[in-house]
Amino acid sequence: MHPRTTTPSATTADVLVVGGGIIGLVTAWRAAQRGLSTTVVDPEPGGGAAQVAAGMLAAVTELHYGEQTLLGLNLESARRYPDFAAELTEASGRDLGYRACGTLAVALDSDDRAHLRELHALQRRSGLASEWLSGRDCRRLEPMLAPGVRGGLRVDGDHQVDPRRLAAALVVACERAGVVFHRGWAERLSVVRDRARGIVTADGTELTADQTVLAAGSLSGRLADVPDDVLPPVRPVKGQVLRLTVPKAYAPFLSRTVRAVVRGGHVYLVPRENGELVVGATSEELGWDTTVTAGGVYELLRDAHELVPGITELPLTETRAGLRPGSPDNAPMLGPTRLAGLQLATGHFRNGVLLTPVTGDVMAHALTTGELPDEARPFTPRRFADSPCAPSPATSAALTEQPV
Ligand code: GLY
Repeated sequence: MHPRTTTPSATTADVLVVGGGIIGLVTAWRAAQRGLSTTVVDPEPGGGAAQVAAGMLAAVTELHYGEQTLLGLNLESARRYPDFAAELTEASGRDLGYRACGTLAVALDSDDRAHLRELHALQRRSGLASEWLSGRDCRRLEPMLAPGVRGGLRVDGDHQVDPRRLAAALVVACERAGVVFHRGWAERLSVVRDRARGIVTADGTELTADQTVLAAGSLSGRLADVPDDVLPPVRPVKGQVLRLTVPKAYAPFLSRTVRAVVRGGHVYLVPRENGELVVGATSEELGWDTTVTAGGVYELLRDAHELVPGITELPLTETRAGLRPGSPDNAPMLGPTRLAGLQLATGHFRNGVLLTPVTGDVMAHALTTGELPDEARPFTPRRFADSPCAPSPATSAALTEQPV
């Protein structure tokens, strides 16, 4: 089904969401459910980084030092996922590929094992449920693992969803909730008497709204005419991801997400029920480059092969690169900015898929009350207002110039 689209004439809404990736869509869906007339502007709603992401809901296995505040939001969103998935499935009539299958993080050598032991200690200090397993117990759970696996962490609470299906379901749910889609590029913000009033698209259409939400992923820092002190300090962080197919004769190849740190690099294998096996991901600070490189594919396959030697038998069906919306502290920016009428829902970095449910709820609250709910207060965009990391005006330009 194609989303309903606007004509080129001006449109006025309560809420205008710039960006139709999963974060923009969930914001629009939740806003429309609260009775707000809502428009999404995007050339391809349902596209963006979710088309590349693996869809791990890995609050516990992706815990990093210094990210304990973000952990609280990640856990809250993970807690909401089962109900969110059920509600969205009901609202859209689409299956999201949500699987409560758990995750196994394993170590291949003594350095990796020391790293994993430290992660385990941090998880325990943070009150998280994870269990240390011997190499033999890891292989009992996942017989395709390499014989050399030295140990691992079993985390049954880290689930997965299929981000492509999630995005498609959100498009349908938005449609059914009355969200209007304007298929085009947002070019510049309209600011009238110190208040955001909507945007102007690349074809000159004016879309006006009481509140504008900038939810354009890695492109969120590039909308023209956003004042410097509210421009989100978002940067693109490239991730190359592979998709393989597990023939029916080989199933079940893996029964849960398997991941490892191999020679310092992260590799994960996410098995779907439909036979897709997603292998990710590189993490590269290369600006707007989305080239799939021989080196990126080689490293992912090399590391995944060390973990699960049998993958070399599988058909390689897709290679792709996407851009994570990185922020200075790896956490999202949610809610009102210092410019009246402008809110942000961006900077989700590695956690966009995981944070989708809580982001929808937080943004609906912020759009209806003007305030962030308690769980989202640390993620106000105002924390970066005086940051030297904010992009200079020279790097700010129309969203038309770069690929998502
Ligand atoms: N959360 C997985 C990734 O960013 O690669």
